[in-house]
Amino acid sequence: MPVSSEREELATLVTSLRRHLQRQDRVGIRFLCQGESPPTDSLRDTDVNLLSGTETDLFSNSSETYKAKTLEELRAAIGDCQRCKLWSGRTHIVFGVGNPKAKLMFIGEGPGRDEDLQGEPFVGRAGQLLTDIITKGMGLRREDVYIANVVKCRPPENRNPEPDEVASCEPFLKKQIDLVRPEIIIALGKFAVQALLQTKAPITKLRGHWHSYHGIKLMPTFHPAYLLRNPGDKKLVWQDIKKVINEMAGSSA
Ligand code: URA
Repeated sequence: MPVSSEREELATLVTSLRRHLQRQDRVGIRFLCQGESPPTDSLRDTDVNLLSGTETDLFSNSSETYKAKTLEELRAAIGDCQRCKLWSGRTHIVFGVGNPKAKLMFIGEGPGRDEDLQGEPFVGRAGQLLTDIITKGMGLRREDVYIANVVKCRPPENRNPEPDEVASCEPFLKKQIDLVRPEIIIALGKFAVQALLQTKAPITKLRGHWHSYHGIKLMPTFHPAYLLRNPGDKKLVWQDIKKVINEMAGSSA
């Protein structure tokens, strides 16, 4: 076959693959890699808006959320949110904190009592453990990374966020990820990983393996609050964190 026809054939294949993946994305099917090596298809340097697909149905192209170009604009677009029932019990919306250009992003479930009072994620007991992981374990500062949650308002009595609450808030998290464009996401606990990867697989199966969230390497691990109740599993989290440290060292080498 002449080289020009091979090129045309390849271009057609790439176009149909892209359309197929976009259709899958629209119905909520995401990439899921279970291998030990992190996926290499990083979108960091491309112009792809992670909001293409499902979220455009929730936020039209003209909405303030969709148009936000900075985290400040996104926070402003969220406003005094009453999109789900969690608004009535909250003190503060806990948007997120850290370096807006962080290479590493941590994503938890939702604010607890301390976070609700202070308006900052992971500042209570579980937060102290997360801070130790970042500073003592990884040798970073909290300001070097970006920290956010799936839901931005505290569920009453720290109950699990309900599906409609996750659905209302999730697009804001996705836009946050889109704006920060980290190289690596650490998903803390079942809610974060299941929301991001659109899977029902248990955290015990997902943790410790590299996955991909729209081309961003994603490492699930246990939630720090779980570790407070099960300190024996800290060694498993340390194994997961070491994989992230190695990956970061590799990518900056
Ligand atoms: N647990 C979370 O998932 N997020 C916080 O911000 C605090 C505790």
